[in-house]
Amino acid sequence: MFILNTFSKFSFFLLLVAISAAQTFSKEDPLYSGKARFHPVVAKNAMVASENSYATNAGLQVLKEGGNAVDAAVTIGFTLAVTFPRAGNLGGGGFMLVYLAEKDEVISIDYREKAPLQASRDMFLDQEGNVDKEKSQNSILSAGVPGTVAGLTLALEKYGTISLERALQPAIKLAQNGFPVDHELSKSLGQAKKRMEKSPASMEIFYKENGAPYEEGELLTQEDLAWSLKQISKNGSKAFYNGAISKKIDSFMKQNGGLIRSHDLKNYKAVTRKPVEGSYRGYEIYSMPPPSSGGVHLIQMLNILEQFPLSSFGHNTAKTIHIFAETMKHAYADRSKHLGDPDFSPIPISGLISKKYAESIKERINMKRATPSNEILPGDPGAQEGINTTHFSVMDGEGNAVSNTYTLNFSYGSKITVPGTGILLNNEMDDFSAKPGSPNAYGLVGGKLNAIAPDKRMLSSMSPTIVMKDGRPFLVTGSPGGSRIITTVLQIIVNVIDFNMNISEATNAVRVHHQWLPDVLNVETGLSEDTINILREMGYKVEIGSTIGVAESIIKKGDYLYGASDPRRPGGLTAGY
Ligand code: DON
Repeated sequence: MFILNTFSKFSFFLLLVAISAAQTFSKEDPLYSGKARFHPVVAKNAMVASENSYATNAGLQVLKEGGNAVDAAVTIGFTLAVTFPRAGNLGGGGFMLVYLAEKDEVISIDYREKAPLQASRDMFLDQEGNVDKEKSQNSILSAGVPGTVAGLTLALEKYGTISLERALQPAIKLAQNGFPVDHELSKSLGQAKKRMEKSPASMEIFYKENGAPYEEGELLTQEDLAWSLKQISKNGSKAFYNGAISKKIDSFMKQNGGLIRSHDLKNYKAVTRKPVEGSYRGYEIYSMPPPSSGGVHLIQMLNILEQFPLSSFGHNTAKTIHIFAETMKHAYADRSKHLGDPDFSPIPISGLISKKYAESIKERINMKRATPSNEILPGDPGAQEGINTTHFSVMDGEGNAVSNTYTLNFSYGSKITVPGTGILLNNEMDDFSAKPGSPNAYGLVGGKLNAIAPDKRMLSSMSPTIVMKDGRPFLVTGSPGGSRIITTVLQIIVNVIDFNMNISEATNAVRVHHQWLPDVLNVETGLSEDTINILREMGYKVEIGSTIGVAESIIKKGDYLYGASDPRRPGGLTAGY
C-alpha cells in the first residue's frame, strides 16, 4: 500500500512536471521547438524596446523603481531627444497609444505638429506651380509647430506617477555631461553634414571645430539642449510654449523668414483621441486614428487579409506577397483621397475599417495577376462621420502598455537648430500635400483633405499599435519608415498571428511594401529569386532595395514578456527584468 501510494504520488509529480514543461516549452511554440532561428529577449516583469540603448536603460530604470509604463515612455521620449537626435526630439511631434490596465482602456495621444497660422495652401509652389522640394523639405518653412513637449508632459500628467523632474533627469544628465557617440550616430552625422551646414547652431553642436562629425567613442555634449530640458523640468511645458524657449523660437523665426510665432506655440495643444479599433482572427487591434492614416489603413488591410488563408499560402510565398501587394495598393489609394486632419474635414473612418468594405475590395483581387495601379482608384467606403521617426514599446508589471512613435520627419528634421536651445526643428510640413497629386518625400500623393491650411495637422503614417488578446495587451509594436510604417506594422502582426513566429523572427523576416503609387513592389534583400521571378511573371515591377521599417516590439504570452529590437538599425536595445 505504502509503495503504491509513493508510486502514485511520484507519477503524479512526474505528470505535473510534464504539464508545466509542456506549457513553458510547448511544441507549438517555435521558440522552444528548436525551430526558431531568432530568439527574443525574455523577461518576467517589465520590458522596453527602443532604437537606442541609453533610452532603453533610462526607461527600464524608471520601471525598476516602480514607475509605470507611461513614466518609462516619457523618460524614454526625453532621453531619445539627446542620444538619438536624428529622430528623438523636442522640436517634432508624434503619437502615443496607452493601455491602462486599471481602467481597461486604450487612449491615444495626438501630439502631431501643426501648420503655423501664417501657412497657406500654395506656400511650397514655385512660379510655375510646381512643388519646391527644397522649401518643403529643407527650409525653415518646412517646420511645423512642434508637439512633442506638449504630448509627453500631457501623458505624464494624466497617466504617469513620477515627477517631470524625474522623467527629465537622464536626458539632462546625458545632454550636460555628454555621452560617447556610437558608430551609427557618427555615420549618420557624416551623411547629414551637407544639409546641416546651413544651420550654424547645428554645426556647432554636432560637429567638431574642423567640421568633422564626432567619431565613435568621442563625447557629444549638448549644453543648449540641457538648458532647454532644465527649463522644462522647472516650468513644465509652459517653458516651451509660453516661456523662455518659445521666445527664442519666435525671434529666430522672425529673423530668418520662418512662420512660427509665439501665438502658434501658445495655442498648441496635444489632444487625446479615441483609437481606431478593429479585429483580426480573434485578436483586437488598437491603433492611431487620424491625423495619422496608420491605424485606419492597418485595420483596413487586416480586414482584407483576414479573408485569405495566409498560413496555408505560406510565409513570403509569391501567393502571399501578391495578396499583400494588392491589399496595400487599395489601402494607399484610399489614403490619397480620404485621409487628413479630422479637425478640418470628416474622415470616413468607420467605412474604411468596416469588414463589408474589405469584402468589396477582396472581390476585386485577381488571384493570378497584379492589378496595375492605374486600374485602382480610391474606393467609396460609404459612411461619412461627424465630422526619421523612431518607435518604442513599453510594458510594465501592472499590465499597462505604451506604444509610441515620434519624429522630426527626415533624419535631423529640417537640420535647423534654434540657436541657444539645442532644439532641432522638424520638416513635417512636407507631409502635407503641397499640390494635389504631387508626391511628397515618401512618394505619397494626396488631395484636398491633406492640403496645407493654417493650424491644421499634416497627415501621418505613424502607426503605434497595441494588439489585444482576450482583453489584455498581447503585442505592442510600431516602426519608423515614412509610408512604409503601416506595411511594416502589418507584417509584424501577420507574421505573429498567421505564421506563428516569435517576435524576433517576425521582426527579422524579409518585408515587402507596395503603396499604389509608384506602381512598384519593394522587397528587401533576402527574398528568394524564384519568388521574385514568379511575382514578375504576375506583372509586378519588383525593386529590391533599401530596408523597410524598424520595428520595436514586445509580446506578452503567459507569464513572460518577449521583445525584439529590429536589427535593420543597429544600436537598438530591448531589455527587461
Ligand atoms: O508622419 C509621417 O508619416 C512621417 N513624417 C514619418 C517619417 C518617418 O518615418 C521617417 N523615418 N524613417
